[in-house]
Amino acid sequence: METHITKRALAAHLAGERRQGRTVGFVPTMGALHEGHVSLMRRARAENDVVVASIFVNPLQFGPTEDFTRYPRDLEGDAHRAAEAGVDLLFSPGVEEMYPAGTIATRVELGPIGETGEGRWRPGFFSGVATVCLKLFHVVPADRVYFGQKDAQQLAVIRRIVADLDIPVDVVGCPTVREPDGLALSSRNAYLDPQARRTASAFPRALFAARDAVAAGEGSAAGVRWVVEAHLEREPALRLQYVDVFDPVSFAPRERIEGRAILAGAAFVGGTRLIDNVEVASQIGSHVPEQKEMAAG
Ligand code: PAF
Repeated sequence: METHITKRALAAHLAGERRQGRTVGFVPTMGALHEGHVSLMRRARAENDVVVASIFVNPLQFGPTEDFTRYPRDLEGDAHRAAEAGVDLLFSPGVEEMYPAGTIATRVELGPIGETGEGRWRPGFFSGVATVCLKLFHVVPADRVYFGQKDAQQLAVIRRIVADLDIPVDVVGCPTVREPDGLALSSRNAYLDPQARRTASAFPRALFAARDAVAAGEGSAAGVRWVVEAHLEREPALRLQYVDVFDPVSFAPRERIEGRAILAGAAFVGGTRLIDNVEVASQIGSHVPEQKEMAAG
């Protein structure tokens, strides 16, 4: 695996690959790689001639009181994991390489898709994600880009900007990878101490209970929220921030569940914010959930 820290060096290398007609798969990450990222890299390895991964903790997508400075960073360990997962080229630029002027005047402005769900609690987050992804898609002209369903709204936003801005790339959504107790893998799980880690698994369990309720006939978002809240009453150490039902494409909130929808939310365990989602499918419309999940390890 080769590592590049400048856009110019990476672009030169990739131009050579493309001249030879080789296909490129790209996995953008913020590092602190776990099995979820590895599953994206393996999928990219299986489907492309050349696999590129980026590691860049993007300041544009962190709010002023969020964890940008303490976000877990382990470039050496990440390089190891990426190489083992079959990555050919690792792009790990510094902030000054991605934002040479120290700031950026041009940002991707999103419509309502960036304002519901996570966007309501993290203003500017999706604009920051979309802006850096657009830059990365220019630096890494790929045939396919790989994103996890764990960040379902981010995946929907990426699909939307690719369609709206005519970016010539296929967006591949990959299943969430979960620990045996259901907790979705996330770089931020590193913040959880053993007690908090045990508490955290109540969140996916509550979402699974709500998914079962929908399969059994619950058709309203209010009913689904009630199931999640009732489940979490037993876990006072976990504070639910929101849980809602969303359209899987537009991420508009839905009051009725008809066909496929995404049940997504966020919860705090101590100072750690967890996000998670499951696909739900009502009796009306499609019966079989399309979102697949994978067990870690
Ligand atoms: O999901 C992430 O790790 C980040 O949001 C991404 C897509 C790499 C953009 O910074």
